[in-house]
Amino acid sequence: MRILFTASECFPLIKTGGLADVVGSLPPVLTGQGCDVRILIPGYREVMAKVANPRTVATIEDLFGSEATIRRADVGALSLLLLDAPHLFDRPGGPYTDDDKKDWPDNHRRFAALSMAAAMIARDGVDDWHPDIVHAHDWQAGLVPLYIKRLGADRPKTVFTIHNIAYQGNLPPSVLTELTLDSTEFTSDRLEYWGNISLLKAGILDADKVTTVSPTYAREIRTPQFGFGMEGVLNARSADLSGILNGIDETVWDPQADGQIAATYKRTQLKRRAENRHAVQDALGLERDPDAMLIAVISRLVHQKGLDILLETVPQIVARGGQLALLGSGDPGLEAGYRDAALQYPGRVGVRIGYDEELSHLIYAGADVMAIPSRFEPCGLTQLYALRYGAVPLVARTGGLEDTVIDANPAAMSARTATGFVFSPITAGELGFALERAFDLFADKPSWHMVQRRGMAQEVGWSLSAKSYMALYKGLLDTAS
Ligand code: ADP
Ligand code: GLC
Repeated sequence: MRILFTASECFPLIKTGGLADVVGSLPPVLTGQGCDVRILIPGYREVMAKVANPRTVATIEDLFGSEATIRRADVGALSLLLLDAPHLFDRPGGPYTDDDKKDWPDNHRRFAALSMAAAMIARDGVDDWHPDIVHAHDWQAGLVPLYIKRLGADRPKTVFTIHNIAYQGNLPPSVLTELTLDSTEFTSDRLEYWGNISLLKAGILDADKVTTVSPTYAREIRTPQFGFGMEGVLNARSADLSGILNGIDETVWDPQADGQIAATYKRTQLKRRAENRHAVQDALGLERDPDAMLIAVISRLVHQKGLDILLETVPQIVARGGQLALLGSGDPGLEAGYRDAALQYPGRVGVRIGYDEELSHLIYAGADVMAIPSRFEPCGLTQLYALRYGAVPLVARTGGLEDTVIDANPAAMSARTATGFVFSPITAGELGFALERAFDLFADKPSWHMVQRRGMAQEVGWSLSAKSYMALYKGLLDTAS
């Protein structure tokens, strides 16, 4: 089975969040289960700089006014196809925004171009390779199913995965023609969404199958509270919608072999985590307090993540003798709020504003608790890394967080199944209550270690979920023949 992934991010080449981790870690596992996966991503400047001598395998004469090429490269276990279109992607800044965090004004062209390239590969193949299925991710690849539908009966089948329904790729109707869409697409039962065109809606409507990244989120997005206006379309497609839980790359994230942490360790060597914890304390300007419960956050600082709620509990954390370490960037108000907290509680609250992959590994390896008070969370990967590294996740009861963490309530403690703390509703009061429970359990070391070990034993890799994707792909090909 040949699968073409199409996405705007892929670790280790380009990453702003969990999408990159998924796109960079699922394909090798699918390959291990008998698939042949290639990953099409934009040839951003940052990506082209990391790839040595990619081979040109196709040329597109006119892609929004200039020539573009598709280049082939292998990076680690990943087979990549890079859309090398300098007029669209060779520029400084991030994948979606410039250095001042403003959206690139031509994002509609940049990501329509990515979808057009995927459709071209679906039609002509590339390098003598013809996909059976094209698996598109998020709004940036939302036009892939629509463009592929135009190819007619022999076309590959399409799967569209929603990683976060809050990002919808909404564009003014004036760009319709540029995207090669005609006015019949601009109706409420097609791509129109509150007066705009939504690329996410296009993906949901036209893909043969739609998935999202956890079973709970698959249910939640069919309701007005979580669907952000897409619940109607999703309900209409409910027969083709499913939730498949994300996994993590167990080779990149392995406390026994991680070269980016101060001390490696196994489940039976939890004492060795103390060295990592000291290193985190040093890196973030925290006191080297060996007894403090170290609560950490690694996150994009956006409303979704509920970190405004956590900020309200800082006085409580400090009063209970805890410490807080935060690595993240985003909303200027939240950045300022956490910087102020660090100034107010020197040695007890440590903040690193920015993005730092290496420091993130050290924090998972050294923190006692990872706090994830998200208002909604399609899957969430940070709780999975936390489980794998023996940092106890303290999470809001929503989406994939609910599907992956078992609350340390008395019944789960006596059944020895608890892996963390889960709270709801998502308010500062309930978060504070969960933190109190964490402080109490932390004082009881044998129970605490039991929860850590149980979490470290949890299956968080891709093997199960990759089987679910395989079954989905096979089902599509069976109906095709
Ligand atoms: P989302 O995709 O919504 O941001 P996920 O939990 O799925 O949330 O994935 C977040 C990913 O980004 C994780 O790999 C996490 O470790 C990483 N990450 C987030 N912020 C930072 C940061 N400031 N520095 C390093 N890694 C970060
Ligand atoms: C999105 C979601 C996150 C999910 C990630 C990967 O960024 O916010 O919950 O884990 O995609 O699927």
